[in-house]
Amino acid sequence: MTVHPPSLPHPLAAWREEFAVFRHATYLNSCSLGALSRASRARIARHLDEWEERGAANWYDRWWAMLVELRTRYAQLIGGRPDEIALHPSVSSILGVVAGAVDHRHRPRVVTTALDFPTVPYQWHNRDVDLVVLPSDDGVTVPVEAFADAIDGRTALVATSHVYFTSGAIQDVRAIADVARQRGALTFIDGYHGAGQLPVQVDKLGADFYCSGGLKWLLGGTGVCFLWARADTTASLHSNVTGWFGHREQFRFDPSSYVPHDDARRFETGTPPLLPVCAQLGGLDVLEAAGAQAIRAVTSALAEDLIEQAREHGLQPKVASRPLERSGIVMLPSDDPARDVARLAERGYVVDARPGHVRVSPYFYNVAEDHRGMLEAFLDG
Ligand SMILES: Cc1ncc(COP(=O)(O)O)c(C=O)c1O
Repeated sequence: MTVHPPSLPHPLAAWREEFAVFRHATYLNSCSLGALSRASRARIARHLDEWEERGAANWYDRWWAMLVELRTRYAQLIGGRPDEIALHPSVSSILGVVAGAVDHRHRPRVVTTALDFPTVPYQWHNRDVDLVVLPSDDGVTVPVEAFADAIDGRTALVATSHVYFTSGAIQDVRAIADVARQRGALTFIDGYHGAGQLPVQVDKLGADFYCSGGLKWLLGGTGVCFLWARADTTASLHSNVTGWFGHREQFRFDPSSYVPHDDARRFETGTPPLLPVCAQLGGLDVLEAAGAQAIRAVTSALAEDLIEQAREHGLQPKVASRPLERSGIVMLPSDDPARDVARLAERGYVVDARPGHVRVSPYFYNVAEDHRGMLEAFLDG
């Protein structure tokens, strides 16, 4: 297949100006941490000014509204409703709340995979559950049939990724969620590598929970994540991990009773960190203006070109076999990934190491010259 990379300028190339990192480096590591936008920096600077000038008084007219805005815009991003969104500082804390909400008395099983980010299975290692970690034969994906074989009438939850961090392979979430639902199990999707780089419509995915956050493709940095909880299948769930933000009347400060919110805020715990919230709103300003479909088209064209170029040079990138199942994560085999990453950094290319591979992740602010130059430097080892 011949893929024509977006040449300079590609439809979104103007957005590169928004990211100052490109003044001194070739950034190809959005999969680990999205680049900092001017919009995020400006929102953080404004927040610091507000904090300095008015302190806690900002809660009443500015900061509370910011949380409402973020829930609303996260919901829009994935085609959900604002009352289905709970804010969290990390995927791990989201998983803790979800794990605390699932009833295992009659359904002791949780199904996950060896390709999911380890914090997903970790949540269930110390609980009294039958944790099934599905293996991957090729290290790239896990067939839907393997899920179907493992999900039974004793399964409470299937917890897996939208896009595998290890291979960039996009899972058929719909097929997995359908099997789970037919057998009475819920589905939790770790979408940290989905939302942002892929257009997401949660109603079409069919899962019950979907989470993501600022760190990577949503350009919001550390400390800000969201859980989307499908209202009609999770409304009756209450977690034993909670906090005052989950209380329906949190400002009554009444320690004698706990009344959870009717909406997904009952899955929240404590005060969301405001600097990350500002950074995330700035990231969303950019993503919304660039447009999800255009971002996917550009990211995909760049990744396909990188894969093709790598193959032409005799490398065998670890990626899904079909382009439609591939994303902006390209794993280049390496005998010493840490050394290669350091070597590339010396030449101005920012990429990351994972066991046996250098992980390269072009995004819409990249151009073909970025990964082509990186590849030359990589091969020049
Ligand atoms: C797919 C995926 N899930 C979760 C995480 C991290 O979770 P947490 O927000 O708990 O650090 C990462 C990496 O940072 C990841 O790649």
